[in-house]
Amino acid sequence: MKTILITGGAGFIGSNLTDRLLKDGFKVVSIDNFDPFYDRKIKESNIKQARANPNFTLVEADIRDEEKMRAVFCEHMPYTVVHLAAKAGVRPSIESPKEYYDVNVMGTLNLLQIMQDLGLRRMVFASSSSVYGNNKKTPFSEDDSVDNPISPYAATKKAGELLCHTFHHLYGCDITCLRFFTVYGPRQRPDLAIHKFTDLILKGKPIPVFGDGSSARDYTFVSDIVDGIVKSMDKLSGYHVLNLGESTTITLAELISSLEEIIGRKAIINRMDKQLGDVDITFADISKAKRILSYAPKYSKEEGLSEFVAWKINTQKSY
Ligand SMILES: NC(=O)c1ccc[n+]([C@@H]2O[C@H](COP(=O)([O-])OP(=O)(O)OC[C@H]3O[C@@H](n4cnc5c(N)ncnc54)[C@H](O)[C@@H]3O)[C@@H](O)[C@H]2O)c1
Repeated sequence: MKTILITGGAGFIGSNLTDRLLKDGFKVVSIDNFDPFYDRKIKESNIKQARANPNFTLVEADIRDEEKMRAVFCEHMPYTVVHLAAKAGVRPSIESPKEYYDVNVMGTLNLLQIMQDLGLRRMVFASSSSVYGNNKKTPFSEDDSVDNPISPYAATKKAGELLCHTFHHLYGCDITCLRFFTVYGPRQRPDLAIHKFTDLILKGKPIPVFGDGSSARDYTFVSDIVDGIVKSMDKLSGYHVLNLGESTTITLAELISSLEEIIGRKAIINRMDKQLGDVDITFADISKAKRILSYAPKYSKEEGLSEFVAWKINTQKSY
């Protein structure tokens, strides 16, 4: 039975990946420091089901803690490391860029060095569509320039990719950097638009809408992302950068209309200025992931949003 080590395993994507891997018969070692960016209770609830599984181990620790990481990696000697732990979110990274740099860059470097020292050779690294900045050419392709990030968060993700490339070049390890395009679905982070809007519309409260509603996103359902991660865990050798999106975009205004329709209630709009660091559009060219991973996203926005809203209503009832 192969062991997969997931950093950030109690978070949104990490906990969805954990459940999938346990179901597929893997052992999962999950490292998370329960960063206070959002409520610990949410993360505890994300991993509640996994904790009942004997093939699951939770290690509460910080990826920057070299001694602790060395001990955990040494004890479990994972087949693949899926490195998801990060300070996430574009806007808060403008408030505390040093903290983002420390966790996302120094934390990644710490793991890469420990893996190299122990002879561990496989990593999947969570990068982000934000590395494309405000590129004008769409859809975004992996061959496009990513030299113009517009937030500290985006810059740390680009730096992570560069470190991964360097370790691959120097030591021949197999690393795939996956650029996720706005991920949503059950357990989505509460700071992200779909979750925040759904919550506020259900409560009959105003939703903060930044800009004129024309910004557009390629929203990707979490099980499609998990599928892409699982495929890259095993399939790829060498160094790769791949977009994982649905390859369709909707505007913020269209997103709000869809949520209103699914929830059956009009949103109260609180229009605000466009936020610094927010890009105008994200739109993934996924032809490379389709070709080399057989990545095949399944969820339409309508299906995904309906599933998310149903999950949100159910969890609200159970809190
Ligand atoms: N959700 C998205 O739309 C999206 C899009 C692009 C990229 N990503 C990337 O995917 C990854 C997972 O994102 P998510 O949405 O699940 O976020 P999340 O915040 O729900 O999960 C990240 C987890 O990492 C943990 N963490 C943070 N700092 C840590 C540290 N120093 N040591 C150990 N654990 C730490 C947090 O406690 C959290 O549980 C992140 O790297 C993020 O940048 C996410």
